[in-house]
Amino acid sequence: MPRKLAAGNWKMNGGPGSAAMLNALAEAHPAPDCDVLICPPAPLITTLVSLGTPFQIGAQDCHSAESGAHTGDTSAKLLKEIGASAAIVGHSERRTDHGETSATVAAKANAAMSAGLLAIICVGETEAERDGGRTLKVVGGQIAGSVPEDAEAQNLVIAYEPVWAIGTGRTPTIEQIAEVHDFIRETLIARFGDAGAEIRILYGGSVKPSNVEEIFAVPNVDGGLVGGASLKAEDFGPIVAAAST
Ligand code: PGA
Repeated sequence: MPRKLAAGNWKMNGGPGSAAMLNALAEAHPAPDCDVLICPPAPLITTLVSLGTPFQIGAQDCHSAESGAHTGDTSAKLLKEIGASAAIVGHSERRTDHGETSATVAAKANAAMSAGLLAIICVGETEAERDGGRTLKVVGGQIAGSVPEDAEAQNLVIAYEPVWAIGTGRTPTIEQIAEVHDFIRETLIARFGDAGAEIRILYGGSVKPSNVEEIFAVPNVDGGLVGGASLKAEDFGPIVAAAST
């Protein structure tokens, strides 16, 4: 079974004072028996890396090119150079707010992997798609389109995040989570062979201290991608602890 990953996605939250949160988390969990990744807004990456906590620091996005005329964007290469170890790509908020297609996401994932970053590729259905019985078709299509052709299993993480569960306090049932994670596992094994069994599959969408143990106990749930509950050490601490058991 892969080592679990507790990943925090701070989205557009946090500031220079967020170092205190990370220090508090490190004090409570100095040697977690899982991987812990914090993805702050890009301008905070250097600050958080320099704290020297036991946690990895990552980005919430990257551009597909190494450099060039792309105002406002950040390359995976630069993220790696400043100490980031991962990049989330294809989060549903990027797919919606910035019109990112699966092809864009694949190009970004490719750039992240080529730069030596772990690419965390997000997939997940909308509520209408679930209600229409299309969840597995949508997720399968997103994986087929967003995971680059020459992806290497060791640099890849898939995050299953039902769009309707993000930031809403609503979560799928345990059976629904199990169904999608089993399906993703089969898809990864079909594509990568034995290595597909080692690719971590995170669940994301309203993970919090009160539901994390139950969710992390589901087979093929190898950790979580956590938004709101990753902003405070007292909320994220129990999530790190659940990933460590
Ligand atoms: P949430 O966000 O935990 O606040 O629902 C998860 C995510 O968007 O990654």
